[in-house]
Amino acid sequence: MSTYEATYRRSQEDPGQFWLEAAADIEWTVPPTEALDSSSAPMYRWFPGAELNVSSNALDRHVAGGRADQAALVYDSAVLGTVTTYTYRELLSAVEKAAGALAELGVVKGDRVIIYMPMIPEALISMLACARLGAIHSVVFGGFAPKELAARIEDAEPKAIVTASGGIEPSRRVEYLPNVSQAMEMSTHQVNHVLVKDREGFENSLSSVPSAGAQWHDYDAVVSAAAPHPAVPVLATDPLYILYTSGTTGKPKGVVRDSGGYTVAMQWSMKNIYGVGPGETMFTASDVGWVVGHSYIVYAPLIAGATTVLYEGKPVGTPDAGAFWRVVSQHGAKVLFTAPTALRAIRKSDPAGEFIQNTPRPTLKALFAAGERLDPDTSRWIEDALGVPVIDNWWQTETGWPIASNPFGLEELPRKIGSPTFAVPGYDVRILDAFGEDLTEPNVEGNIAIKLPLPPGTLATLWGSDDRYKSSYLDAFPGYYTTGDSGYVDEDKYLFVMGRTDDVINVSGHRLSTGAMEQVVASHPAVAECAVIGVADPLKGQRPSGYVVLKSGVDIPEEELRKELIGLVRQDIGPVADFKDVAIVGALPKTRSGKILRKTMRQIADGEEYVVPSTIEDPSVIEELLSILRAV
Ligand code: COA
Ligand code: AMP
Repeated sequence: MSTYEATYRRSQEDPGQFWLEAAADIEWTVPPTEALDSSSAPMYRWFPGAELNVSSNALDRHVAGGRADQAALVYDSAVLGTVTTYTYRELLSAVEKAAGALAELGVVKGDRVIIYMPMIPEALISMLACARLGAIHSVVFGGFAPKELAARIEDAEPKAIVTASGGIEPSRRVEYLPNVSQAMEMSTHQVNHVLVKDREGFENSLSSVPSAGAQWHDYDAVVSAAAPHPAVPVLATDPLYILYTSGTTGKPKGVVRDSGGYTVAMQWSMKNIYGVGPGETMFTASDVGWVVGHSYIVYAPLIAGATTVLYEGKPVGTPDAGAFWRVVSQHGAKVLFTAPTALRAIRKSDPAGEFIQNTPRPTLKALFAAGERLDPDTSRWIEDALGVPVIDNWWQTETGWPIASNPFGLEELPRKIGSPTFAVPGYDVRILDAFGEDLTEPNVEGNIAIKLPLPPGTLATLWGSDDRYKSSYLDAFPGYYTTGDSGYVDEDKYLFVMGRTDDVINVSGHRLSTGAMEQVVASHPAVAECAVIGVADPLKGQRPSGYVVLKSGVDIPEEELRKELIGLVRQDIGPVADFKDVAIVGALPKTRSGKILRKTMRQIADGEEYVVPSTIEDPSVIEELLSILRAV
């Protein structure tokens, strides 16, 4: 039996004992005596009654344990051309002061704080400062528009927002402050304080933005005047953060992450999946606004006593397709973790892999990819070019860490291209048919579900709504968590994840809701109805394409409407939606009950075989759409 098999079996046969043993690797103020509280099943809680502080696990214990002078954080800004290193001692001191500043503004345990920042150290420091106080952070990705920020303010009801004057995109400077004040104006919730990390080169400063009822402060001034704050113990079951993610509707889902289970899962996964230990370096090229950034830029590397690289830049264009290899080489990364879309962008720019050949990378032992399906062609290309294992790992904002992966740290298993290998210990992954029956036959595609309970570190609930949590994930197949992905297991038990079963799409590794885009498009006065679908794209994975039916009597040139709709989505959701394709059509294909046949539309656009459901209201609509859909 392989080490993986033995470990997986133990995790299934006695999950309580398995996770209590894993819990011994982190520091508790009150250690757990019980692993799982099932008393409110299907709502489960890990390590009831135990207490800890997450920032203390990420910082204090390493300073006390002899790592004070080791690099904790390397901030590499390709857009500024600077590198700044924080040792564990320095990072602890920065976090203590930031926590002190938030405390002086009245933030206490259980309060929410929104962090809307570019990839600068203060983003990570603010997250850990919240964790130090037991306050719950909610990081909002900088590419979201004010309306999306407002929806998160409305739902999380934060006492404070930590932001910066701006972010640097290769093509432009992104002004954050007008977005923050607009978002606060749009929300009915009153935020008390806004802390602004001032960056050079932005038009808007503290003195120029409208107050929106809040007090605005200079981050550096408040933090430098603050007294260092000690770590506040919290219950393992207390929330550490809320991370909003796209669902099928316009209202984002606030995934709630607990403190204890997550810390245990971060420590366990760094060692057993990613194979990165104390003193080693991990470079996760994502954004702290996404789950990959939360877990493998911020929490896991620091909890493990490793060095994390915070990279402000793009895979290409800052300045070239050699940026990742330069960072790996310069900072001695053992593992690089990024999204397949970034690898495709690099390949497009450097098809012969010249930058890879010309940059020595003696420390690099593996490349991990997640966030979307890793297509076989890209996987082969990058593995040939790099000469290290390329490891596909499948997970979601909801789970916080991989559901399926080659357990590189535990044991490198033979890989199959296109598969994230096997279920990770702790996850009981099943393929279910439409009626919730286990599909035991290999190679038959179905709904990928996970038998409850989920392991530590996964979502506890959705913020403010256990009912929405249950209806979104647990009701479809009682006793299981529904992932929303479809896939199959082959004859050797390798898992293949094929795509979403709902209206969630993945554009350049960014998870977006076509439902939310439809809501925005439908708000245009000329639009009678619309459908937005995710069409396959060789670079981005998927791209959103909109099809609109005009109200009768409306006469608007297609190009003008296109520009207006693109502008509307950019304004309401943000540039990250990357909504650029719009076509006016005579009608949308629907079932007799009025449901738009989005799946059939997507299959036609992707050139796949398609079946027109017998319930279609008017089959001639499909005939008329064929040429338009096939042209995208
Ligand atoms: N703040 C403000 N705007 C942002 C932003 C941010 N943090 N991130 C992206 N945007 C903007 C971009 O500037 C662009 O705007 P534009 O339409 O004015 O040009 C738009 O959003 C689309 O951006 P993106 O989809 O990122 O395209 P890109 O061409 O700028 O970059 C990639 C392409 C592949 C390099 C980039 O998408 C990428 O690195 N993706 C990986 C995502 C990832 O790490 N996901 C996490 C899972 S591991
Ligand atoms: P997010 O919540 O942004 O991490 O997006 C999660 C979704 O991205 C999953 O439900 C999948 O649809 C997709 N995804 C993430 N990683 C992979 C992967 N390795 N293979 C296939 N799909 C993936």
